[in-house]
Amino acid sequence: MNVIESISGKNGKISVLFVCLGNICRSPAAEGILRAIIEERGIADRFDIDSAGLYHGHSGELPDQRMRVHARRRGYELTHKARPVRVSDFDNFDFIIGMDRSNIEGLKAMAPTPDDEKKIIMATDLCRSHTWADHVPDPYYGVSQGFETVLDILEDVCETIADAKS
Ligand code: 4NP
Repeated sequence: MNVIESISGKNGKISVLFVCLGNICRSPAAEGILRAIIEERGIADRFDIDSAGLYHGHSGELPDQRMRVHARRRGYELTHKARPVRVSDFDNFDFIIGMDRSNIEGLKAMAPTPDDEKKIIMATDLCRSHTWADHVPDPYYGVSQGFETVLDILEDVCETIADAKS
């Protein structure tokens, strides 16, 4: 069973945690995009969504101002407050979606059991049009185009997740 089938096959509500390094750029953008898509489709009650970071230095902060500006231009309001990933997240979420290889390795190191490790998914494995992407690139130290690329890839990822429960 591939990852998309495993999401579609789950009965009832699904819970999804998006994870990146700082929880101020990529993962709160993914959270905001998925919220917007499922609200637009009237299927918000089928999901629990949150995001978190492996680096704790930005805990409590709103998403990066640049990420918020780029997201707002596409109609997404990002209001998440950064928080660290917790071991208890493996009990509380069905799917834990990392943005790059380093996130995946960090999450695997935290997973309490082999079954918990199976919840970890690389975001770009859910891409259907950006099939060239093998990770969501960290935009933090880059130029503004980097934020647009992140949003392009994450819209693709989130459409796949929303379609699985539509
Ligand atoms: P994110 O981006 O992982 O997409 O939230 C980053 C945010 C902050 C840092 C690195 C990446 N940082 O080094 O502070």
